[in-house]
Amino acid sequence: MAENRLIIFDTTLRDGEQCPGASMTARQKLEVAKQLARLGVDVIEAGFPVISQGDYQSVREIASQVKGPKICGLSRCLPKDIEAAASALEPAGSAARIHVFLATSQIHRRYKLAKDEEEIIQIAVNGVRLAKSFVEDVEFSAEDASRTEPEFLARILQQVIEAGATTVNIPDTVGYAVPEEFASLIRYLFENVPNIHKAIVSVHCHNDLGLAVSNSLAAIKAGARQVEGTINGIGERAGNASLEEIIMAIHTRPDFFGKMELGIQLKEILRTSRLVSRMSGLAVQRNKAIVGENAFAHAAGIHQDGILKKRETYEIIDPKIIGWEQSELPLTKHSGRAALENRLRMLGFELEKDEIDNIFSQFKDIGDKKKFIYDDDLIALVEGQISRIKETYQLEYMAVADCSGGIPMATIKLRRGQELLVDASTGDGAVDAAMKAVDRITGLHGHLVEYEVRSVTEGKDAIGEVTVKVNFDSKHLVTGKAASTDVFEASIRAYLNAVNKALL
Ligand code: KIV
Ligand code: ZN
Repeated sequence: MAENRLIIFDTTLRDGEQCPGASMTARQKLEVAKQLARLGVDVIEAGFPVISQGDYQSVREIASQVKGPKICGLSRCLPKDIEAAASALEPAGSAARIHVFLATSQIHRRYKLAKDEEEIIQIAVNGVRLAKSFVEDVEFSAEDASRTEPEFLARILQQVIEAGATTVNIPDTVGYAVPEEFASLIRYLFENVPNIHKAIVSVHCHNDLGLAVSNSLAAIKAGARQVEGTINGIGERAGNASLEEIIMAIHTRPDFFGKMELGIQLKEILRTSRLVSRMSGLAVQRNKAIVGENAFAHAAGIHQDGILKKRETYEIIDPKIIGWEQSELPLTKHSGRAALENRLRMLGFELEKDEIDNIFSQFKDIGDKKKFIYDDDLIALVEGQISRIKETYQLEYMAVADCSGGIPMATIKLRRGQELLVDASTGDGAVDAAMKAVDRITGLHGHLVEYEVRSVTEGKDAIGEVTVKVNFDSKHLVTGKAASTDVFEASIRAYLNAVNKALL
């Protein structure tokens, strides 16, 4: 591999999905994985197979259906984990990577693992050897590497490389590092691990101090050739390093980083960001670099004037190259199925016939309510289809009325199998009343933690997309989503989506 090749390792579906409320269904994960392949990432960490049957199945499905990137499964250095990862990754053949990890810092050794340095080395070496007996491509991560004594880190890395690790990853697990210090650690490892050139040095930074991208870039400058992160920077706590920011920094500043080779299709960045945001239910902040709504919006008159004269005066990236401003003529209710299918293919969706049938029927319904159907409307429909889960309860009917004193009262009728269940409730508003009526029917107690309405496109007839985060019985935080031209209906359907997920 060329010395200037930077490997992009995406862990949106593993570390990213660990973020509370972000869990995705296997179908959603598959669609994200396909989009990551179109984006051109080199490695997709698809999950942690031993953790649950769902994770195992999802890794296996991605391993059998997604071609191009390496498909990776995470595993502790335990035989049962490594065997589960190997089995889930089997359909990927030679594109499979097993990623084993073990904490190396003193605090983890002493309090979490109760093992001394020699025992830790032995467990790591055994884990790498066992993984190597299944696949050629093995990554070892020294968890909490940035708080590990550098001498011990160098010693363990030397041993795992000797045992067959082809990539050694240096995580800043708790987001503690600062750029200069992290870069020095990487340089130290290049100088003090005698066999370091037999492996790719990787970094994996968390954002607790808001430094994940800066630390990753400093490490790349110091010689790291794999960088791990997530789309939109999603992840536990303050998240992981945001891949789109790292990619665009490398692309925009070859004068500083040198000419790096990247396998990324830049024009897919925005589409990937939007898909991940919708699938995970985690909105992208407006001012987020690269993919935020305002990232290329110039409000100041002086800036607008400068841009009109020469774009580069105030814009360091041409937004078009990452997928902004790529609009096609909208479809209308007169557009046929072939036109719809064609547009969906152009947007990158490969759907089954019955999925297209469903989308086509919704497309016609929306066409009666709204003049133009834009690409974003279609994406919302596709995502609704992809996000479908087994529905214990289906909405049959809903109505809201004012009872005495202007207090809203909602009536809800739900179907459960052959049964029709009806109840009504008052509430602080129409949506609150309807959600309470749903609770009376299902017997669940949902506490609404977050409620967000987003207009998918512009105009009064736009589709409204509602995302709710609901805490059920103070135990499970579940995200529900739905879209409709009627925001009240979208709200109830989103709540019901969360109820059905909680029941699953
Ligand atoms: O943050 C971390 O240390 C991890 C490892 C499992 C790589 O996610
Ligand atoms: Zn991590």
